[in-house]
Amino acid sequence: MEYKIALLPGDGIGPEIIAEATKTLDRVAAKYGHRFEYRRALVGAAAIDATGDPYPDETHRVCCESDAVLFGAIGDPKYDNDPTSKVRPEQGLLRMRKSLGLFANLRPVSLFDALTDRSPLKAEVVRGTDFICVRELTGGLYFGRPQGRDENGTHAFDTCSYTTMEIERVLHVAFRLAMSRRRHLTVVDKANVLETSRLWRETAQRVAGEYPEVTVDYMFVDNAAMQLIRQPSHFDVIVTENMFGDILTDEASVISGSLGMLSSASIGAEVALFEPIHGSYPQAAGKNIANPMATILSAAMLLEHLGLDAEGRAVRKAVNAALEAGVVTEDLAAPGNRRYSTSEVGDYVAAHI
Ligand code: IPM
Ligand code: MG
Repeated sequence: MEYKIALLPGDGIGPEIIAEATKTLDRVAAKYGHRFEYRRALVGAAAIDATGDPYPDETHRVCCESDAVLFGAIGDPKYDNDPTSKVRPEQGLLRMRKSLGLFANLRPVSLFDALTDRSPLKAEVVRGTDFICVRELTGGLYFGRPQGRDENGTHAFDTCSYTTMEIERVLHVAFRLAMSRRRHLTVVDKANVLETSRLWRETAQRVAGEYPEVTVDYMFVDNAAMQLIRQPSHFDVIVTENMFGDILTDEASVISGSLGMLSSASIGAEVALFEPIHGSYPQAAGKNIANPMATILSAAMLLEHLGLDAEGRAVRKAVNAALEAGVVTEDLAAPGNRRYSTSEVGDYVAAHI
């Protein structure tokens, strides 16, 4: 089969990790008789430098015309350290999510057997971890209006806003996912304080009626932050609003030993987008040291999304082979063991497809 894949490397280590993911995809194409037609487009600081816009119209067009989007990372310290700059790379990511209608972000967290001893948590705590966080991606504090400053510049405000429709559609994604797994859904909110959270909880209680086989529990976000590292195996599917999901998934990533292992899929109205959950890691850019596995695993999710399940499994198997063989970058290398480069890890994975 033939597929059009938009490649958005973005900033920092983005181009390096995307290169390793396409190496794997090329190998999949050769082995299974597919053709992947890549279309490259700019996003983030790279796009600002070239066009002044972090998400140019041309990039949006390329995404819309593709079967799937593979995205690297966004962010550049020259903007982080200048809070007054009018245009920031992250605006590109947010606009991309919003204009592609990507309202649900699926972030799977599971333990790779070979990495049990790389987790900062005890083996008996992390064993059996296998859950997916469904993060709402186009609402809440990230997008609510008004947002800004008063005329003196000494009063800043962001608005957390959700409509019933926005909550319902992401809940359905989470409930359906739970039905395909262990049928346990945890709704995370702060309903003891926030009105938006009370609307989330009320909506979840109503939608739950449509999924009688799913066991639902409700958890305040502060407690969820604690339970995630106290007993991660408790969770099957977690659903939560944008900001809570952002924070909890970075926390959850340490369970598997490295932020460099977590992949994600963003789905919604149109084309789906696949990306590692980590950032642009500017300190590592150009050094060939960043872990490409989260992006390679995002490519596996992309394949599965296209219905290429055997191909996706082959990629996961190849990643596991690299982990078992200790072919890992410095973030995962055990003390005293060899640290492989980004491209060496990519070569090994591609060769094991
Ligand atoms: C993520 C990132 C982004 C977010 C940043 C880069 C804007 O942290 O995808 O989790 O906050 O959503
Ligand atoms: Mg984040």
